[in-house]
Amino acid sequence: MIDGLMDDFRVIFGADRQDGAAYFSPAKVNLIGGHTDYNGGHVFPAALTLGIYAIARKREDRIVNFYSKNYIEDGIVEFSLDEELEFNSEDDGVNYVKGMYKYILEYLGADSANVVGADIIVHGNIPSDSGLGSSASIEMLIAKIACDTSGIEMEPLTLAKLGRRVENEFIGHKSGIMDQFAIEMGKKDMVILLNAGSMKYEYVPAEFGNYSILIMCTNKLRRVKDSAYNVRQQQCQEALAILKQKADIENLCDLSYAAFLKLSYLIDDETLLMRARHVITENERVLEAKETLEAKDLNAFGALLYSSHCSLRDDYEVTGVELDTLVELAIKQKGVLGARMTGAGFGGSAIALIKDTEIHNFILSVAPTYQRLIGYSADFFIARISDGVHNLDD
Ligand code: GLA
Repeated sequence: MIDGLMDDFRVIFGADRQDGAAYFSPAKVNLIGGHTDYNGGHVFPAALTLGIYAIARKREDRIVNFYSKNYIEDGIVEFSLDEELEFNSEDDGVNYVKGMYKYILEYLGADSANVVGADIIVHGNIPSDSGLGSSASIEMLIAKIACDTSGIEMEPLTLAKLGRRVENEFIGHKSGIMDQFAIEMGKKDMVILLNAGSMKYEYVPAEFGNYSILIMCTNKLRRVKDSAYNVRQQQCQEALAILKQKADIENLCDLSYAAFLKLSYLIDDETLLMRARHVITENERVLEAKETLEAKDLNAFGALLYSSHCSLRDDYEVTGVELDTLVELAIKQKGVLGARMTGAGFGGSAIALIKDTEIHNFILSVAPTYQRLIGYSADFFIARISDGVHNLDD
C-alpha cells in the first residue's frame, strides 16, 4: 500500500522536491472495558495492523495540503495554519486534521511559530464506522507528522490528550482517551492495560495460543452514535454527582462494586443506576480479564467478554440488533470461548475469541445468517496487533 502511495504523492504534489517520509498509524481494538475510560476506569486495548498509511513532506510556508485516497472526490484540501481553524461539518474527516493542528498550535503557544505546513497524502484500510478508532488514528497520524515536519518533540501522552480535545471540543464527541492512547502507545503483540483515571499503564502479552481475536464488523451506518454516546457520558456524570454526596470519589470507577451496592440506595433513577452499575462492574471485569489472560485461562477470559457484552446490552443499552445478532450467533459456534461488542456501540464491531481451526467454518455459518437476519453483510477479519503510530523509514 505504501509503495503505490509514494507514486501518488509524486503525481499529486510533484517530484521536483525531495520525497516525503512514510508513516503508519494503526486502528485499535478494545478487548474489554466498554465505556469505562471517561469514568476513570480501566480499558484493555491494542493497536492493529489495520490503519492509515501516509506520506508527508514539510513545506517552507504555513500551508497544509491534505489529500485522502479514500475520499478522492474531495481533491486536495488546503488550509493555512495562520487562519482561524474552525469545525465545519462540510469538511468531514478534514476536521480531525484541522483540529489536531489547532490544538498543537495552541499548546505550543509562542513556540507555535515553529510549526510549518506540510503536503500530506493518506490511504487507510480501516473499515469506516467500524468502532476501531479511525478518527483517533488520523489525529495521532497528523500529530506525528506535524511534530516531525516541524522538528518539534512532544510527549506521546500530551499528543493523546490533544487528540482527545479534538474529539471533545472540536468535534463535540465526549469520548475518553483510550483510542488516542492505544494508537500512540501500541506495541506489537501486546495488549495495554490502561487506568484512564491515573493514566498508569502496563503491557500484557497477547498470548492466545491457538485462539485468535476475530473482529466482526456490523457495517451498520451509525447516525445516533455521537449523540447517544454523549447522553451516556452525561448520565454517568449525574450518577457520580449523586454518589459523591456520600463517597469521596472523583470518578465512578473509583468505587468497587461492593462499595457501590452499599450506596446505590442514593440513586432513585433506574436508568442512572443501570449506567453506573455497568461502568463499575465493567471496570472490575477488565482487571479480571487481565489476570485470566496472564494465567492463560482463555475459558474464563471468554466468559468475561460475554458478561461485558450483556452488561453493555442490558445496563448501558449501547448494543442494538446488529451487534447482538453477531454476538449471539458467535457464541453458539464451535470453538468460540466468548464474544462482545467493542468500541462505542450502536453498530461498529464486535469481537470473538475463537479457535484458529474453526475460523473458516465460523464465517461460513455466521456470515449468511447475519445477512439473512439483518439485510446486509458483515465483514470478518483476524486482529493482528501492531506498534503504535510510527515513521516507516525509521
Ligand atoms: C469510543 C471512545 C472511547 C471509549 C469507547 C467506549 O471508542 O472513543 O473513548 O469511550 O467508545 O469504550
